[in-house]
Amino acid sequence: MNILMVGDVVGEGGCHYLSRVLPKLRREYEADAIIVNGENSAKGNGITPQSADMLFSAGADVITTGNHCFRRRCESLFDENPRILRPANYPEGTPGSGVYSLDLGRTRLAVINLMGTAFMEPLDNPFSVIDNILETLDTPCILVDFHAEATSEKRALGYYLSGRVSAVIGTHTHTQTADEECIDGKTAYISDVGMVGAARSVLGVCPEQAIQKQRFHVPVQFSEAPGPYVLGAVCLSIDPKTGNSNKIRRVFLKEMTN
Ligand code: FE2
Repeated sequence: MNILMVGDVVGEGGCHYLSRVLPKLRREYEADAIIVNGENSAKGNGITPQSADMLFSAGADVITTGNHCFRRRCESLFDENPRILRPANYPEGTPGSGVYSLDLGRTRLAVINLMGTAFMEPLDNPFSVIDNILETLDTPCILVDFHAEATSEKRALGYYLSGRVSAVIGTHTHTQTADEECIDGKTAYISDVGMVGAARSVLGVCPEQAIQKQRFHVPVQFSEAPGPYVLGAVCLSIDPKTGNSNKIRRVFLKEMTN
């Protein structure tokens, strides 16, 4: 079966571009399920009921998030819709869940959202948290969205989970990497899948604002850069019986301008 995993969608522009291209991508890659990272889908970042609706309407089956999951103070969103995940390594008692088991008829796909701790919030250790989660799952088909800053932490988790999950897909840095592989022929891996956001931008934000912030270290109100847009994703081919991935293909679209 084929699974499409789409990187961080940035703002309204990213949501609209996703709506325009995702139906075609689903057909082209014959995707059985689509996972989308939506932690920057609301205006300014974070996720709201409105931006989540846009992602589901575009075709997302499960939405993952990351460090901005609670930025818009919409904690109840996660309890009300189990298909919207927050990182599983938040402390016990945090609203929502980091795991969702998607029914695909002939099999189930478990989607796990985890966050790195290198240069990020000091959440629970993602390595030990996922060890505990894997003991509870009833399917070999398992996709992990590892929302993390450091490539070293991402690659280490990829090897740690080799042969134990179908895929470890990095998100958060918004720039698609070229290191996709099937580790040991079983676990699809990429350090970062990329984003859905403005091409002329710094991670989706207006370059001039990012320069102001980096140059002078003063607080800057970021806004979403205008289009044209890019889309970063991967398509995984998973054996539904064993859960092994035998192929990972990078997807990169750039909107044409006249
Ligand atoms: Fe992030």
